[in-house]
Amino acid sequence: MTNKVAKLIDGRAIAEKVYVDLRREIAELKAKGVIPGLAVVLVGDNPASRAYVRSKDKMCRELGLHSVKLELPESTTHTELRARVGELNADSRIHGILVQSPTPEHIDEAAIVRAFDPRKDVDGFHPENVAKLVLDDPSGFVPCTPLGVQRLLTETKIEIDGAHVVVLGRSMIVGKPLALLLMQKNKNGNATVTVVHSRSRNLAAITRSADIVVAAIGRAEFLKADHVREGAVVIDVGINRVEDAANERGYRLVGDVAFGEVSRKASAITPVPGGVGPMTIAMLMSNTVKAARQSL
Ligand code: GUN
Repeated sequence: MTNKVAKLIDGRAIAEKVYVDLRREIAELKAKGVIPGLAVVLVGDNPASRAYVRSKDKMCRELGLHSVKLELPESTTHTELRARVGELNADSRIHGILVQSPTPEHIDEAAIVRAFDPRKDVDGFHPENVAKLVLDDPSGFVPCTPLGVQRLLTETKIEIDGAHVVVLGRSMIVGKPLALLLMQKNKNGNATVTVVHSRSRNLAAITRSADIVVAAIGRAEFLKADHVREGAVVIDVGINRVEDAANERGYRLVGDVAFGEVSRKASAITPVPGGVGPMTIAMLMSNTVKAARQSL
Protein backbone atom coordinates (compact mmCIF):
# COMPACT_ATOMS: atom_id res chain seq x y z
CA MET A 1 0.00 0.00 0.00
CA THR A 2 1.36 3.40 -0.94
CA ASN A 3 0.71 6.47 1.17
CA LYS A 4 -0.28 8.68 -1.75
CA VAL A 5 -3.59 10.47 -1.47
CA ALA A 6 -5.86 11.25 -4.41
CA LYS A 7 -6.37 14.78 -5.70
CA LEU A 8 -9.74 16.05 -4.47
CA ILE A 9 -12.04 17.19 -7.26
CA ASP A 10 -13.76 20.27 -5.83
CA GLY A 11 -17.31 20.35 -7.21
CA ARG A 12 -18.16 23.59 -5.42
CA ALA A 13 -15.25 25.46 -7.02
CA ILE A 14 -16.02 24.09 -10.49
CA ALA A 15 -19.72 24.97 -10.08
CA GLU A 16 -18.66 28.55 -9.27
CA LYS A 17 -16.83 28.69 -12.60
CA VAL A 18 -20.01 27.56 -14.34
CA TYR A 19 -21.94 30.34 -12.57
CA VAL A 20 -19.51 33.00 -13.77
CA ASP A 21 -20.36 32.07 -17.38
CA LEU A 22 -24.07 31.69 -16.63
CA ARG A 23 -24.36 35.12 -15.01
CA ARG A 24 -23.04 36.69 -18.20
CA GLU A 25 -25.48 34.76 -20.32
CA ILE A 26 -28.39 35.61 -18.00
CA ALA A 27 -27.50 39.32 -18.29
CA GLU A 28 -27.52 39.03 -22.09
CA LEU A 29 -30.95 37.37 -22.02
CA LYS A 30 -32.30 40.03 -19.67
CA ALA A 31 -31.08 42.70 -22.08
CA LYS A 32 -33.31 41.00 -24.66
CA GLY A 33 -36.25 41.06 -22.23
CA VAL A 34 -36.11 37.41 -21.17
CA ILE A 35 -35.74 36.29 -17.56
CA PRO A 36 -35.11 32.55 -17.51
CA GLY A 37 -37.76 30.88 -15.34
CA LEU A 38 -37.72 27.50 -13.59
CA ALA A 39 -40.62 25.72 -11.89
CA VAL A 40 -39.73 23.01 -9.40
CA VAL A 41 -42.55 20.77 -8.22
CA LEU A 42 -42.38 18.69 -5.06
CA VAL A 43 -45.15 16.25 -4.18
CA GLY A 44 -45.19 15.02 -0.59
CA ASP A 45 -42.61 15.67 2.07
CA ASN A 46 -39.63 13.39 1.57
CA PRO A 47 -36.98 15.24 3.62
CA ALA A 48 -34.14 14.69 1.15
CA SER A 49 -36.30 15.82 -1.78
CA ARG A 50 -37.40 18.87 0.17
CA ALA A 51 -33.75 19.80 0.75
CA TYR A 52 -32.90 19.41 -2.97
CA VAL A 53 -35.87 21.52 -4.03
CA ARG A 54 -34.89 24.22 -1.56
CA SER A 55 -31.32 24.35 -2.94
CA LYS A 56 -32.59 24.59 -6.52
CA ASP A 57 -34.94 27.46 -5.65
CA LYS A 58 -32.20 29.25 -3.68
CA MET A 59 -29.74 29.02 -6.56
CA CYS A 60 -32.33 30.41 -9.01
CA ARG A 61 -32.77 33.40 -6.74
CA GLU A 62 -29.03 33.94 -6.38
CA LEU A 63 -28.70 34.06 -10.15
CA GLY A 64 -31.71 36.36 -10.58
CA LEU A 65 -33.84 33.76 -12.35
CA HIS A 66 -37.61 33.61 -12.07
CA SER A 67 -38.26 30.73 -9.67
CA VAL A 68 -41.53 29.00 -8.89
CA LYS A 69 -41.52 26.38 -6.16
CA LEU A 70 -44.71 24.32 -6.02
CA GLU A 71 -45.04 22.23 -2.90
CA LEU A 72 -48.02 19.93 -3.24
CA PRO A 73 -49.40 17.60 -0.57
CA GLU A 74 -48.79 13.84 -0.61
CA SER A 75 -52.51 13.43 -1.37
CA THR A 76 -52.20 15.21 -4.76
CA THR A 77 -53.70 12.94 -7.42
CA HIS A 78 -52.06 12.04 -10.70
CA THR A 79 -54.75 14.03 -12.54
CA GLU A 80 -54.14 17.11 -10.39
CA LEU A 81 -50.39 16.94 -10.95
CA ARG A 82 -50.93 16.43 -14.69
CA ALA A 83 -53.08 19.58 -14.71
CA ARG A 84 -50.36 21.60 -12.95
CA VAL A 85 -47.84 20.47 -15.56
CA GLY A 86 -50.25 21.61 -18.26
CA GLU A 87 -50.42 25.06 -16.66
CA LEU A 88 -46.63 25.30 -16.48
CA ASN A 89 -46.33 24.18 -20.12
CA ALA A 90 -48.60 27.10 -21.06
CA ASP A 91 -46.86 29.69 -18.84
CA SER A 92 -44.54 31.84 -20.97
CA ARG A 93 -42.55 32.98 -17.91
CA ILE A 94 -41.52 29.38 -17.24
CA HIS A 95 -38.76 27.94 -19.47
CA GLY A 96 -37.90 24.87 -17.40
CA ILE A 97 -40.06 22.43 -15.44
CA LEU A 98 -38.92 19.76 -13.05
CA VAL A 99 -40.93 17.36 -10.89
CA GLN A 100 -38.70 16.13 -8.10
CA SER A 101 -38.25 12.36 -8.16
CA PRO A 102 -39.30 10.08 -6.52
CA THR A 103 -42.99 10.97 -6.52
CA PRO A 104 -45.51 9.17 -4.28
CA GLU A 105 -46.53 5.64 -5.34
CA HIS A 106 -49.95 6.63 -6.69
CA ILE A 107 -48.42 8.96 -9.29
CA ASP A 108 -47.30 7.58 -12.64
CA GLU A 109 -44.03 9.48 -12.91
CA ALA A 110 -43.25 8.30 -16.45
CA ALA A 111 -46.62 9.60 -17.67
CA ILE A 112 -46.03 12.96 -15.95
CA VAL A 113 -42.66 13.31 -17.68
CA ARG A 114 -44.29 12.53 -21.04
CA ALA A 115 -46.76 15.34 -20.39
CA PHE A 116 -43.97 17.95 -20.23
CA ASP A 117 -43.40 20.23 -23.16
CA PRO A 118 -40.05 18.69 -24.22
CA ARG A 119 -38.67 22.22 -24.79
CA LYS A 120 -39.14 22.83 -21.04
CA ASP A 121 -37.85 19.43 -19.90
CA VAL A 122 -34.64 20.67 -18.24
CA ASP A 123 -34.20 17.28 -16.52
CA GLY A 124 -33.86 15.61 -19.93
CA PHE A 125 -36.22 12.77 -18.99
CA HIS A 126 -38.81 13.21 -21.78
CA PRO A 127 -38.53 10.52 -24.52
CA GLU A 128 -37.85 13.23 -27.13
CA ASN A 129 -34.80 14.42 -25.17
CA VAL A 130 -33.64 10.86 -24.51
CA ALA A 131 -33.81 10.27 -28.26
CA LYS A 132 -31.81 13.44 -28.95
CA LEU A 133 -29.10 12.23 -26.56
CA VAL A 134 -28.92 8.91 -28.41
CA LEU A 135 -28.87 10.76 -31.75
CA ASP A 136 -26.12 13.23 -30.68
CA ASP A 137 -28.54 16.12 -31.31
CA PRO A 138 -27.30 19.04 -29.16
CA SER A 139 -30.66 20.84 -29.18
CA GLY A 140 -32.02 18.43 -26.57
CA PHE A 141 -31.64 18.44 -22.80
CA VAL A 142 -29.23 16.04 -21.12
CA PRO A 143 -29.95 15.03 -17.50
CA CYS A 144 -28.16 17.30 -15.02
CA THR A 145 -26.11 14.79 -13.05
CA PRO A 146 -24.48 13.17 -16.11
CA LEU A 147 -23.75 16.65 -17.51
CA GLY A 148 -22.22 17.60 -14.17
CA VAL A 149 -20.01 14.50 -14.11
CA GLN A 150 -18.77 15.23 -17.64
CA ARG A 151 -18.03 18.85 -16.74
CA LEU A 152 -16.15 17.83 -13.56
CA LEU A 153 -13.91 15.61 -15.68
CA THR A 154 -13.29 18.15 -18.45
CA GLU A 155 -12.63 21.03 -16.03
CA THR A 156 -10.18 18.81 -14.13
CA LYS A 157 -8.44 18.03 -17.46
CA ILE A 158 -9.10 14.32 -17.10
CA GLU A 159 -9.11 12.85 -20.59
CA ILE A 160 -12.38 11.12 -21.47
CA ASP A 161 -11.47 10.57 -25.14
CA GLY A 162 -10.40 6.94 -25.51
CA ALA A 163 -10.62 6.21 -21.77
CA HIS A 164 -12.35 3.17 -20.35
CA VAL A 165 -15.17 4.52 -18.18
CA VAL A 166 -17.06 2.06 -16.01
CA VAL A 167 -20.43 3.32 -14.83
CA LEU A 168 -21.93 1.54 -11.83
CA GLY A 169 -25.69 1.78 -12.04
CA ARG A 170 -28.20 1.85 -14.88
CA SER A 171 -30.76 4.40 -13.69
CA MET A 172 -32.70 6.65 -16.02
CA ILE A 173 -31.41 9.67 -14.09
CA VAL A 174 -27.68 8.88 -14.05
CA GLY A 175 -26.26 5.58 -15.33
CA LYS A 176 -27.92 5.24 -18.72
CA PRO A 177 -27.71 8.88 -19.83
CA LEU A 178 -24.13 9.17 -18.57
CA ALA A 179 -23.08 6.15 -20.62
CA LEU A 180 -24.68 7.68 -23.73
CA LEU A 181 -23.13 11.09 -23.08
CA LEU A 182 -19.59 9.84 -22.60
CA MET A 183 -19.71 7.66 -25.71
CA GLN A 184 -20.89 10.50 -27.95
CA LYS A 185 -18.63 11.20 -30.88
CA ASN A 186 -16.92 14.41 -29.71
CA LYS A 187 -13.89 15.53 -27.73
CA ASN A 188 -15.73 15.43 -24.40
CA GLY A 189 -16.97 11.95 -25.24
CA ASN A 190 -15.29 9.19 -27.26
CA ALA A 191 -15.03 6.98 -24.16
CA THR A 192 -15.18 3.23 -24.10
CA VAL A 193 -18.09 2.80 -21.72
CA THR A 194 -19.05 -0.26 -19.70
CA VAL A 195 -22.16 -0.22 -17.53
CA VAL A 196 -22.29 -2.58 -14.57
CA HIS A 197 -25.15 -2.97 -12.09
CA SER A 198 -26.50 -5.05 -9.24
CA ARG A 199 -26.85 -8.15 -11.46
CA SER A 200 -23.41 -7.97 -13.08
CA ARG A 201 -21.09 -10.94 -12.70
CA ASN A 202 -17.39 -10.25 -11.95
CA LEU A 203 -18.16 -6.64 -11.11
CA ALA A 204 -14.84 -5.98 -9.35
CA ALA A 205 -12.81 -7.35 -12.27
CA ILE A 206 -14.62 -4.94 -14.60
CA THR A 207 -14.31 -1.87 -12.38
CA ARG A 208 -10.61 -2.66 -11.87
CA SER A 209 -10.08 -2.33 -15.63
CA ALA A 210 -11.45 1.24 -15.64
CA ASP A 211 -9.50 4.45 -16.09
CA ILE A 212 -12.52 6.29 -14.67
CA VAL A 213 -15.11 4.74 -12.35
CA VAL A 214 -18.44 6.50 -11.78
CA ALA A 215 -20.39 5.10 -8.83
CA ALA A 216 -24.14 5.69 -9.12
CA ILE A 217 -25.58 2.56 -7.60
CA GLY A 218 -27.32 4.10 -4.59
CA ARG A 219 -25.63 1.98 -1.93
CA ALA A 220 -23.61 3.57 0.85
CA GLU A 221 -19.84 3.02 0.53
CA PHE A 222 -20.33 0.18 -1.98
CA LEU A 223 -17.16 0.79 -4.01
CA LYS A 224 -14.09 -0.41 -2.09
CA ALA A 225 -10.37 -0.12 -2.74
CA ASP A 226 -10.44 -3.65 -4.21
CA HIS A 227 -12.77 -2.40 -6.96
CA VAL A 228 -10.33 0.16 -8.39
CA ARG A 229 -6.90 0.04 -9.90
CA GLU A 230 -4.06 2.19 -8.60
CA GLY A 231 -4.29 5.63 -10.21
CA ALA A 232 -7.89 5.43 -11.40
CA VAL A 233 -10.20 8.47 -11.30
CA VAL A 234 -13.26 7.94 -9.10
CA ILE A 235 -16.47 9.98 -9.34
CA ASP A 236 -19.01 9.43 -6.59
CA VAL A 237 -22.61 10.24 -7.49
CA GLY A 238 -24.13 8.70 -4.36
CA ILE A 239 -25.79 10.66 -1.58
CA ASN A 240 -26.84 8.26 1.17
CA ARG A 241 -28.03 9.13 4.65
CA VAL A 242 -26.54 6.80 7.25
CA GLU A 243 -27.51 6.89 10.91
CA ASP A 244 -24.98 8.65 13.06
CA ALA A 245 -25.85 9.35 16.70
CA ALA A 246 -22.76 11.56 17.04
CA ASN A 247 -24.15 13.94 14.40
CA GLU A 248 -26.64 16.56 15.58
CA ARG A 249 -29.00 15.70 12.69
CA GLY A 250 -28.86 12.01 13.64
CA TYR A 251 -27.40 11.08 10.25
CA ARG A 252 -24.47 11.88 8.02
CA LEU A 253 -24.13 11.84 4.24
CA VAL A 254 -21.90 9.29 2.55
CA GLY A 255 -21.41 8.47 -1.09
CA ASP A 256 -21.42 5.17 -2.97
CA VAL A 257 -17.64 5.05 -2.51
CA ALA A 258 -15.73 4.00 0.63
CA PHE A 259 -13.89 7.30 0.49
CA GLY A 260 -11.13 6.63 3.03
CA GLU A 261 -9.71 3.50 1.43
CA VAL A 262 -10.42 4.41 -2.20
CA SER A 263 -8.80 7.86 -1.87
CA ARG A 264 -5.51 6.16 -1.01
CA LYS A 265 -5.56 4.27 -4.28
CA ALA A 266 -7.20 6.64 -6.79
CA SER A 267 -5.37 9.51 -8.51
CA ALA A 268 -8.38 11.82 -8.22
CA ILE A 269 -11.72 11.51 -6.43
CA THR A 270 -14.84 13.55 -5.68
CA PRO A 271 -15.91 14.07 -2.06
CA VAL A 272 -19.48 13.69 -0.76
CA PRO A 273 -20.77 16.26 -0.14
CA GLY A 274 -19.06 18.87 -2.32
CA GLY A 275 -18.39 16.82 -5.44
CA VAL A 276 -21.10 15.93 -7.94
CA GLY A 277 -23.99 17.50 -5.94
CA PRO A 278 -23.13 21.17 -6.58
CA MET A 279 -22.52 20.36 -10.25
CA THR A 280 -25.98 18.83 -10.65
CA ILE A 281 -27.57 22.10 -9.54
CA ALA A 282 -25.21 24.14 -11.73
CA MET A 283 -26.22 22.05 -14.76
CA LEU A 284 -29.90 22.50 -13.93
CA MET A 285 -29.35 26.25 -13.99
CA SER A 286 -27.43 25.88 -17.24
CA ASN A 287 -30.23 23.83 -18.83
CA THR A 288 -32.78 26.43 -17.70
CA VAL A 289 -30.76 29.21 -19.33
CA LYS A 290 -30.46 27.07 -22.47
CA ALA A 291 -34.26 26.58 -22.52
CA ALA A 292 -34.77 30.33 -22.21
CA ARG A 293 -32.24 31.00 -25.00
CA GLN A 294 -33.92 28.45 -27.26
CA SER A 295 -37.31 30.04 -26.60
CA LEU A 296 -36.20 33.22 -28.40
N1 GUN B 1 -34.16 13.12 -7.87
C1 GUN B 1 -32.85 12.85 -7.79
N2 GUN B 1 -32.18 13.42 -8.80
C2 GUN B 1 -33.09 14.08 -9.54
C3 GUN B 1 -33.01 14.87 -10.72
O1 GUN B 1 -31.95 15.08 -11.32
N3 GUN B 1 -34.18 15.38 -11.16
C4 GUN B 1 -35.36 15.16 -10.55
N4 GUN B 1 -36.46 15.69 -11.06
N5 GUN B 1 -35.47 14.42 -9.46
C5 GUN B 1 -34.34 13.89 -8.96
